Amino acid sequence: MSRYHEVYASWKKDPEAFWGEAAREISWYKLWDRVFDPYMGEYGRWFPGAECNTAYNCLDRHVQSGRGDQKALIYDSPVTGTKTSFTYSELTYEVATFAAVLKDLGVEKGDRVIIYMPMVPEAVIAMLACARIGAIHSVVFGGFAANELATRINDAKPVAVVSASCGIEPGRIVAYKPLLDKAIELSEHKPQHCVILQRPMLEAELVAGRDRDWSTLVNDAKTRGRKAGCVAVAATDPLYILYTSGTTGQPKGVVRDNGGHMVALKWSMKNHYGVEPGEVYWAASDVGWVVGHSYIVYAPLLHGCTTVLYEGKPVGTPDAGAFWRVISEHRVAAMFTAPTAFRAIKKEDPQGEFIKKYDLSAFRTLFLAGERADPETIKWAEEKLRVPVIDHWWQTETGWAICGNPVGLGMLPVKYGSPTVPMPGYDLHVLGDKGQPLPPGETGTLAIKLPLPPSCLPTLWNNNERFRKSYLSEFPGYYTTSDAGYRDEDGYVYVMARTDDVINVAGHRLSTGQMEEVVAQHKDVAECAVIGVYDETKGQVPTAFIVLNAGVNRDPKEIEAEVVHLVREVIGPVAALKNVMVVKRLPKTRSGKILRGTMRQIADGEPWKMPATIDDPAILDEITEVLKARGALRQKAPA
Ligand code: COA
Ligand code: AMP
Repeated sequence: MSRYHEVYASWKKDPEAFWGEAAREISWYKLWDRVFDPYMGEYGRWFPGAECNTAYNCLDRHVQSGRGDQKALIYDSPVTGTKTSFTYSELTYEVATFAAVLKDLGVEKGDRVIIYMPMVPEAVIAMLACARIGAIHSVVFGGFAANELATRINDAKPVAVVSASCGIEPGRIVAYKPLLDKAIELSEHKPQHCVILQRPMLEAELVAGRDRDWSTLVNDAKTRGRKAGCVAVAATDPLYILYTSGTTGQPKGVVRDNGGHMVALKWSMKNHYGVEPGEVYWAASDVGWVVGHSYIVYAPLLHGCTTVLYEGKPVGTPDAGAFWRVISEHRVAAMFTAPTAFRAIKKEDPQGEFIKKYDLSAFRTLFLAGERADPETIKWAEEKLRVPVIDHWWQTETGWAICGNPVGLGMLPVKYGSPTVPMPGYDLHVLGDKGQPLPPGETGTLAIKLPLPPSCLPTLWNNNERFRKSYLSEFPGYYTTSDAGYRDEDGYVYVMARTDDVINVAGHRLSTGQMEEVVAQHKDVAECAVIGVYDETKGQVPTAFIVLNAGVNRDPKEIEAEVVHLVREVIGPVAALKNVMVVKRLPKTRSGKILRGTMRQIADGEPWKMPATIDDPAILDEITEVLKARGALRQKAPA
């Protein structure tokens, strides 16, 4: 029997008592004045008046309670052939040392530090070092190019940037340092210091006066016995800013606080993921994404687990058995990744032959999120792994699951295609266009009645107005998730599509609006539309339709290749734009709105209706012909 309904009801009856109780799992320097103050901030704030330190709760506290010799972090890197680990004592020492290095460089409480790093332990050390001294980190995913990094530097205005000479992608070395140099050149704000971790695969040239070598600084601090202690910060102070795709080229700076974040994540480890302190937990994501922040770094460490930092891919490093090797070697109890990773494995090893080669006896549960877990993928994973496979739905904005199947409270029956039910803290509603509640089975916007629970964003960095406009204004009294979906008669939630221009490519969140802005920069492009079309492995991939300026008579293939290159240069390889098609015209409504939705339905082979407001129906035939000629027209919609 699951305790879910009882626990959810107890939260609903008295949210403050519920979260006040959960907060007892955290060590505080000073307790809160109130669990929740509805008059503070944009919709209220959690634990105002309280003081705490996130790094202390992740590290020192465990050392003091006897976990010092337990592994805190296992670094497993098939792309460099490295495996190392840090005990809680060792990780505390490294973090305290690097925190002292940051302090010596002049980083103070409240200052921002950008971390642009591959999946190396130093990235985690840098994040926790910031938390230790009350600095606010902002991690930028390594697959973003210089321009994206520059945008974030300009918005966050960091005192320092921590980076590495290179990252390793299968078959190529990604030189990070030239991207960082270019980003600083592009940005108006200039960070005072860059700390660069030199990796032996490709060393970087350091800029005199600005760049410092990580190892030199750390070794020097160790020789001098320099360590920084944990600084008490307000529970409501920001721990980090994480930029995520919005509807324009300007990403949204999601702010995470210290107190509420710790309380919710700690609660989730036992109750949602069903793991105990001392067990091994592995999120195969990247520290550049929210999953990496919450479930590679903060939650497992808050809970006293051993976390795995994996620098590799599900396939090709070296084969489709990579995940099973890691699970078996490190005795992973619970794993969290994106469905796309499993689709990639399934494609290479449909019979699951590699699974048979490994001892997966410690493995209990697989969690999937980042995009809708398609039933086929779930069924395949269940059948081959013989463990429960749990889909759960969340966003960068929330920092933890909105909906899930709480293994720790006792699993509810799985319904394929549904991330199950709202977690305590989330009063989820399905709203129609006018904000009216919709009955079971009807699709509308999934909206959360305010207040949002602990860990969710209190606002956007330096932009309260954009926060209100993006999330709170569409349905007064609610936060809009910008996801559309429905609930069934049993209250199970189905998340079907975004209501904005965000697409999900290999579990990565991207904005087609932002891509359009970049594509439109090409000198020969008159106008364009970018849509996300179905892809067997990545879920969706972007496809750009471009109309050329009058008089351009160059080879369209050449222009298409230039557009692919441009998006890779400006946004980064993660944008994964490979399909660009020159078309004569774009389909529009009579008022000039591009009919992106209809184009997507055509490309995906879904049934579609001629929009009543279309200006010229013949254009849809032209688009269909182009897609057909390119072999990009799906015959049948995915299940
Ligand atoms: N630094 C630099 N480049 C990066 C990068 C990084 N950290 N991460 C990805 N890229 C590059 C890739 O090399 C690829 O470049 P290419 O166009 O030259 O091949 C491009 O960005 C697109 O990456 P991706 O969409 O991830 O495709 P992929 O073919 O490399 O891998 C998967 C596909 C499914 C194997 C991979 O995306 C994956 O493992 N995803 C699941 C886990 C995950 O990351 N989830 C995210 C949130 S939970
Ligand atoms: P991100 O902010 O990168 O975590 O992306 C959040 C978005 O990914 C959500 O708004 C959804 O559109 C999508 N998403 C994440 N998890 C799921 C899921 N389990 N089911 C459906 N969509 C999901």
